[in-house]
Amino acid sequence: MASKHKLNFIDSKIREIRKNNLYRKLQYGKTQGSHITINGKKLLNLCSNDYLGIPTSTIQIKQLQSSSRLVSGNDESYKKLEKSLAKHKSQQNSLIFPTGYMANLGVISSVAQKGDVILSDELNHASIIEACKLSDAKVTIYKHNDMDDLQKKLKVKGKNKFIITEGIFSMDGDFSSLKQITEIAEKSKAITIVDDAHGDFVVGSDGKGTPNYFRVSKKIDVYISSLSKGLGSFGGYVASQNNVIDLCINKSKSFIYTSALPSFLINYTTKRFESNRERQKIKLEKNIKQLSTGLKQIGFKINSKTHIIPIIIGNEKTAMDFGKFLKDNGVFAQPIRYPTVPKNQARLRISVTAWLTANDIESALNVFEKALKKFRTIQSSSS
Ligand SMILES: Cc1ncc(COP(=O)(O)O)c(C=O)c1O
Repeated sequence: MASKHKLNFIDSKIREIRKNNLYRKLQYGKTQGSHITINGKKLLNLCSNDYLGIPTSTIQIKQLQSSSRLVSGNDESYKKLEKSLAKHKSQQNSLIFPTGYMANLGVISSVAQKGDVILSDELNHASIIEACKLSDAKVTIYKHNDMDDLQKKLKVKGKNKFIITEGIFSMDGDFSSLKQITEIAEKSKAITIVDDAHGDFVVGSDGKGTPNYFRVSKKIDVYISSLSKGLGSFGGYVASQNNVIDLCINKSKSFIYTSALPSFLINYTTKRFESNRERQKIKLEKNIKQLSTGLKQIGFKINSKTHIIPIIIGNEKTAMDFGKFLKDNGVFAQPIRYPTVPKNQARLRISVTAWLTANDIESALNVFEKALKKFRTIQSSSS
C-alpha cells in the first residue's frame, strides 16, 4: 500500500477553504483597454486598478540591471523619477520600492520601533497589517474612520506615536477622515503615515492625492503609494523627509534584500507620470458620475464618492453567483471575499477607469439591472 504523502495535510486546509466558499482560482486574461478576454470571451473590465487609463506606450528592453539597488541595480533612471515623485508630494525626497506592498513593509517596519505605538485603522490594507507586525512597536487598531476611538486610543503611552491610514480605502472606496486625523495628530504630536495607493494620481489638484484633496499635504509626515494603480505602471514608493528616506535605504529589508525594478519600468513610469494625466482624470470623473448615477437609478444604494464603488452582498456564495452572472453577461467584476474583507461582507468591488466609454457604461448598467432583478435578496447597499 502506498504510504501517505507528507504534504497530504494540505488537502484538508484546501477543503476547509472550499467549504467556506472562500476558494480562489487563478484565471488567465488578456487585457486590452476597457476589455479583458478570459477563456476566449471578451468582457467589459470593471475591476482594473488602472484608473487613469493612460494610453499605453511601448517599452524597449535592452538589458536588465538584475541586482539590488545597493549593489549595481541603481540605474540612473531612478534619479529623475524619485525627484519628480518627491516634488509631486511636496516632500524632500522619495524612494522607489519594487511594489507598494513592499514599500509598506519596509517603511513602517523601519520607522516604528520598540517602545513606539502604532494606531492603525481597522480597514487598513494587508500590507500595512503585515508591516505593523514586522515592526517592534505596540499596535493598536482603531475603529474604521472613528475619530473618537482614535483619540481615546492615542492616550496610551509610547515613545513615538504613529497614526496609519489609507487615503481612499481600497475595498470600500471611502475617504479617510484625513483633516481630523491631522488635527488630532498635531495635538498629540503623533506621526502621520498615509498609504494613498488608490488616491494617488487620481484625486487632488494635478492628481497629488488624498492629502492634497483635503488640503493637508503639509501635515502628512510619511506618504506611501503604489505606481501600479492610478499611474498604471508598476512599483511602490515612499515620499518623506531626507532622514526617513536615508533610514529606509539603510534598514528596509524589502528594499535592501531584493532586486531593483528594471530601468525600462522606471522609464515607462516616468513617461506615464509626464503624460497628460489631467485629460484622463477628467474622463475618469465623467465615468464615475455616469456609473454611480446609473447604479443608483437602478436601485443600488451607492454612497461612494470615488472611483471604487462597492456593492455589498454579504454572503460569500451569493457574491460568487452574482459575479458569475455578471461574467456570463459580459461584465467582469471579481467578487471580493474574506479575508480581504470581513466575513459576511462579500462584495462586488467595481472600479471605474478612464478606459470605459459612455457606451461601455451603458451596457454594464443594463447587466447590473438584470442582476438586481435576479438577486433580489442582496442588500444592494454600499459604504
Ligand atoms: C491600500 C493598498 N496599499 C498597498 C497596496 C499594494 O500595492 P502594490 O500592488 O503596488 O503592491 C495595495 C494594493 O492592492 C493597496 O490597496
